[in-house]
Amino acid sequence: MKKVQKIGVVGAGTMGRGIIQLFAQAGHEVYCFDAWDGAVAKAMDFVTGLIERGVEKGRQSREQADELIGRIHPCDQLNDLADCDVVIEAIIEEIGAKRSLFKQLEAVLRSDAIIASNTSSLVVADIAAECANPERVAGLHFFNPVPLMKVAEIIAAVRTSTATVDALKALIDGAGHRAVIAADQPGFLVNHAGRGLYTEGLRIIEDQCASVQDVDTLMREAAGFKMGPFELLDLTGLDVSGKVMESIYEQFQQEPRFRPSSLVAPRIAAGLFGRKSGEGWYRYENNVRKDAPRIAAPALHAGIKVWIDGGADDHDSLVALAQQGGAKVCDAPDDAELILIQPWGWDVSSYCAQNDLDARIAVAVDPLPGLDKHRTLMISPITSSIARDAAHALLAQGGDVTIVNDSPGFVTQRILATIVNIAANIAQRGIASVEDIEDSVRIGLGYPAGPLSIGEKIGGERILMILDAMQAQTGDMRYRPSLWLSRRVTLGVSLLTPESSRV
Ligand SMILES: NC(=O)c1ccc[n+]([C@@H]2O[C@H](COP(=O)([O-])OP(=O)(O)OC[C@H]3O[C@@H](n4cnc5c(N)ncnc54)[C@H](O)[C@@H]3O)[C@@H](O)[C@H]2O)c1
Repeated sequence: MKKVQKIGVVGAGTMGRGIIQLFAQAGHEVYCFDAWDGAVAKAMDFVTGLIERGVEKGRQSREQADELIGRIHPCDQLNDLADCDVVIEAIIEEIGAKRSLFKQLEAVLRSDAIIASNTSSLVVADIAAECANPERVAGLHFFNPVPLMKVAEIIAAVRTSTATVDALKALIDGAGHRAVIAADQPGFLVNHAGRGLYTEGLRIIEDQCASVQDVDTLMREAAGFKMGPFELLDLTGLDVSGKVMESIYEQFQQEPRFRPSSLVAPRIAAGLFGRKSGEGWYRYENNVRKDAPRIAAPALHAGIKVWIDGGADDHDSLVALAQQGGAKVCDAPDDAELILIQPWGWDVSSYCAQNDLDARIAVAVDPLPGLDKHRTLMISPITSSIARDAAHALLAQGGDVTIVNDSPGFVTQRILATIVNIAANIAQRGIASVEDIEDSVRIGLGYPAGPLSIGEKIGGERILMILDAMQAQTGDMRYRPSLWLSRRVTLGVSLLTPESSRV
């Protein structure tokens, strides 16, 4: 493989600047061009400013910084990129502009040079459509900020050659990022895998199961995510994310798994974009989020008669908590004033109907995070306030509690099972390898683990059970389990088991 020395960057905006910095730091000569007069100079100021700060903080010597800055070459015309081995395009997200630039680049560059697009939503084959040599065209999708987000997706379009993919992989590896390879499919890999958190979070609030703040709290404190779906949407901006949701849904031929929420359009129309507009799912004052205060736990109901479902995962711990709170643990549900259950996938109403339990005194405790983490209680539409408060008081002993309305799979089961199912389907469709799915989601989305590992930890059988139960209760095809998932559960093997090679 020919060693890539010279990199061209076209488009010196947010992404272009990061790409320039990354490759200059990796020791390449970087040539940058932008159609807007002054854009390259601004990008140079930005990048050199960062490098100078590195010197002030002792991260690099003056000499190293000067060498690094010397490797960045501002260009006045596209022709100045003629000797580049790889050119990365990071101009506006518009198919016409990209197509015509790629055609111009083909005329300027050597025949063995690679042309890559940083597009986040366009079909790479479409960008290459007017190129004479589409085999040297690929997607190269970075994340913002480029030097810190240490993953890049190489998009192999239908005509991209293996040699092009291999050369880009070596280039990215050499720059210290993790290179993952994805097929030219909507959302590629990371944006595709990231659908579950948003779509299911939105569906939960659409169904009035929980508040925005409660969903975020549970995803952070019970599921271990850095941010919940609404915090993330406020950060990226609903105007931007809303378009991505629509575009991926349409590009996947209205696949129910990606169906966007009707809650989004009115909020975009009202300018509730998120942090940048001062209000989104949350309100911000001086960029500080204004949260609703947490509801304080009620006083313990000493002597209340509690029955704890024998099938509950945390049966013994719940008995201990009830006794510690002065409750009387009884042997039969008929004698109880409060029933505690721990369903997987089922809501309180259905679980009570299936098990002949009185939903008026039933409260569910989410078994997924266990009692060590933030605890979720779930009530049926007819659970009495006495039963609800008694359960709240008992579970608030030594832990934080959030109460949600009836929902198949609480909040964490619903969202995590959806994330696992979408990742399994990415593997099923051969969009990326298991390893690349795992690493790209962990690095690119910052999830606590790769999505298939999350499923493996919960248990494939359990994930399947949650999805089946959600589909049975809602009748919604979005929850139908991926064949990747159901086959591996049927065979009793790990969700990370790749397909056997056919040849
Ligand atoms: N911003 C992100 O978080 C992000 C993340 C991943 C991918 N992307 C993708 O990266 C690309 C660039 O996004 P951005 O946020 O850096 O945009 P930006 O608006 O910050 O920068 C685009 C730059 O391209 C220049 N430009 C426009 N048309 C040009 C042309 N024909 N020739 C040369 N220069 C031209 C503009 O003058 C501008 O400086 C888009 O395809 C976008 O979808 C963006």
